[in-house]
Amino acid sequence: MGRKIRIAIVGVGNCASSLLQGIEYYRHAREEERTQPIGLMHYDLGGYIPADIEPVCAFDIDKRKVGRQLADAAFAKPNNTTLIWPNLSCTAVTVQMGPVLDGVSPHMEDYPEDRRFVVAPHPPVDVARALKDSGAEILLNYLPVGSQQAAEHYTHACLEAGVSLVNCMPVFIVSQADWAEKFRLQGIPAVGDDIKSQLGATILHRTLVQLFLDRGVELTRTYQLNTGGNTDFLNMLNRNRLSSKKRSKTEAVQSILPEPLPSEQVHIGPSDYVPWQEDQKVGFLRLEGRIFGNIPIEIEARLAVEDSPNSAGVVIDVIRCCQLARDRKINGPLTSVAAYFMKHPPQQLPDAEARIRVERFIRGEIER
Ligand SMILES: NC(=O)c1ccc[n+]([C@@H]2O[C@H](COP(=O)([O-])OP(=O)(O)OC[C@H]3O[C@@H](n4cnc5c(N)ncnc54)[C@H](O)[C@@H]3O)[C@@H](O)[C@H]2O)c1
Repeated sequence: MGRKIRIAIVGVGNCASSLLQGIEYYRHAREEERTQPIGLMHYDLGGYIPADIEPVCAFDIDKRKVGRQLADAAFAKPNNTTLIWPNLSCTAVTVQMGPVLDGVSPHMEDYPEDRRFVVAPHPPVDVARALKDSGAEILLNYLPVGSQQAAEHYTHACLEAGVSLVNCMPVFIVSQADWAEKFRLQGIPAVGDDIKSQLGATILHRTLVQLFLDRGVELTRTYQLNTGGNTDFLNMLNRNRLSSKKRSKTEAVQSILPEPLPSEQVHIGPSDYVPWQEDQKVGFLRLEGRIFGNIPIEIEARLAVEDSPNSAGVVIDVIRCCQLARDRKINGPLTSVAAYFMKHPPQQLPDAEARIRVERFIRGEIER
């Protein structure tokens, strides 16, 4: 349909695997599924379909991924997400060694190799050069939570190579004024930070909080406890790496409220690593409040969902929005796109409003 959207991937983990598999899955979608595609918010987005997304470059640091074809690395251990589509077409892309920096938490050493990252012995490539050589236009950052230095390193490389950043993880870059300005000055768009899953704990929590507000119910306290058995959850056992993830998830919910809850009345974050859950995430939500006549009310909800396809369903739209912005020569953060698709955008908006703005952005009625 549209022309190809050339992407680079940093971190060929579960999220990248689900995205690549999803692209193939929808490439092979039957004609009748294209008008009513299962699991997509848009099949055609501004003239681009999922199959227009073409990986041209990938970086990782794991010995089971570096030096291999991206089509194989996407299925290598410790990835453990469910299978959507077994044969990937990205056989021409070889995963290159990235700079490790703070990408790997030392506590992972205590776990079996099958479940954790194992650093390859190769020297890192020059990321900016590799990006330029590949012709990539958009880089997806799927680094582990807490990889501040690594995220900044890849961002600098993006700026040097004129490549847009879609920051799927919670190191705050696109939402920070100084970084945003750098993308503006380079004349390229960027979207971030921390992808909001298609139907994950964040959007469910925000929707329930919005329901309280819309119905005149006072929210007095709430929690969201999440467990999972993938490397994302294993990595987050190191509490020192967790602060930005907790902030991103908490602000996503607090921002709905006219007055944020006192910090001791709200607890939101990844809670434990349960290996047998594999890539299944379980989120437990509780909301307490007061209805008419100061009478108490409680809601408990349990969400169980395969974690990584849940993020891929959103990234597939963000990539295409970012490409539309590049086509239209828009620079800097895409605010409405980020407000709808990211947990920690430059500007928080209610989801219903953000959605309307995204549709207007896609139609070209508003700039960002
Ligand atoms: N639904 C979701 O799964 C979801 C939603 C929102 C945000 N996220 C975030 O997306 C990110 C990726 O999630 P994931 O489940 O794919 O994680 P993952 O652990 O499966 O993958 C991370 C990958 O990064 C690689 N890596 C580590 N250091 C690196 C470096 N310096 N350079 C290049 N590669 C490096 C690892 O080897 C691994 O392949 C995480 O930060 C996660 O919190 C995920």
